[in-house]
Amino acid sequence: MQTTRLGRTGLVVSRLCLGMMSYGTPKWRPWVLDEAASRPLVKHAVECGINFFDTADMYSGGESEVLTGRFLRELCRREEIVVATKLFHPVGLEFSSGMAAKGGGRRPPPNTHGLSRKRIFHAVDASLARLGMDYIDLYQIHRWDPATPIEETMEALHDVVKAGKVRHLGASSMWAWQFAKAQEVARANRWTPFASMQNHYNLAYREEEREMIPLCRDQGVALIPWSPLARGFLAGNRKADDATAGATTRARSDEIAPKLYYRASDFATVERLSAMANAKGVANATLAYAWLLHKGVTAPIFGATKLAQIEQAVAAVELTLSAEEVAQLEAGYEPHPVLGHS
Ligand SMILES: NC(=O)c1ccc[n+]([C@@H]2O[C@H](COP(=O)([O-])OP(=O)(O)OC[C@H]3O[C@@H](n4cnc5c(N)ncnc54)[C@H](OP(=O)(O)O)[C@@H]3O)[C@@H](O)[C@H]2O)c1
Repeated sequence: MQTTRLGRTGLVVSRLCLGMMSYGTPKWRPWVLDEAASRPLVKHAVECGINFFDTADMYSGGESEVLTGRFLRELCRREEIVVATKLFHPVGLEFSSGMAAKGGGRRPPPNTHGLSRKRIFHAVDASLARLGMDYIDLYQIHRWDPATPIEETMEALHDVVKAGKVRHLGASSMWAWQFAKAQEVARANRWTPFASMQNHYNLAYREEEREMIPLCRDQGVALIPWSPLARGFLAGNRKADDATAGATTRARSDEIAPKLYYRASDFATVERLSAMANAKGVANATLAYAWLLHKGVTAPIFGATKLAQIEQAVAAVELTLSAEEVAQLEAGYEPHPVLGHS
């Protein structure tokens, strides 16, 4: 497994990050694997040399962090691995997709979400307890909090770094101006800036190439995109009637994917990807991850629900593409509305 530095930090990460959102409990989202089904996958990823793992407090209402900590304590030496988690959304099985409770239920109670000083101090201790670890390598804000002054957020994040609970900070999907503002506030006050950006970027969704990616390149911020396979859409097995006849549990039950992809031009992107993957004798997933690695991404955060999916991800690290092949995969892309910030 190839490794690289996370942005301008000294932290060494594998060129692939295993997304832990797939592991927790199906009570949260039906396609999520439970502990017994998840363990062999995480074990295999570790055996393949992956040392970088991304979870969030909200995934499976906290159960993803619990399993992440348990598996990694069993399988790894703490000093070798990079554990990333996130905060922002309320934590609870009823909050399966962010702020809104399932079935239009109750709103999250006060101070249980967002990026206030109180919330950050509480959330970091809760994540550490669930992980069963005494520090987090990369603590990321899952979204931008319009209700809290960014100065309050950045100072509190700096304080959890200085308290030894967190080694580095990262951010996730937001507008580029918000990210630039946060970095400037940190710099002006000599607080810790963000080392990484976990954004929504894949062959079917490239809007980040307009502003966020050039900004991150300019500032030496590591790009660690989420859903690099477009939540499975790029794999080649997704169809327009997935909600009723999908090939996998996730194809049938992932309520977010159809809101992000599934347009005619997205299916055309998959056709181009499949044609080149077939010609090269590799899986669509391998080629889709390789494309991201050729676009200057530090480590795509990929999801896997089957052992072979891990192997197909690992193969991407060694797959070389020519500039013409990269251009061929990109040709015909039609811009999307900005998606994935909320
Ligand atoms: N920051 C954020 O807002 C945010 C948002 C979303 C995700 N994330 C992070 O990103 C990680 C990855 O997200 P994701 O699961 O949506 O990523 P993804 O890599 O785009 O999609 C993963 C899904 O694709 C399918 N798949 C994977 N490899 C395959 C292969 N080789 N062949 C065929 N199908 C394959 C699997 O679905 P099937 O089960 O259908 O086979 C799998 O669940 C998460 O775990 C989380 O850490 C962050």
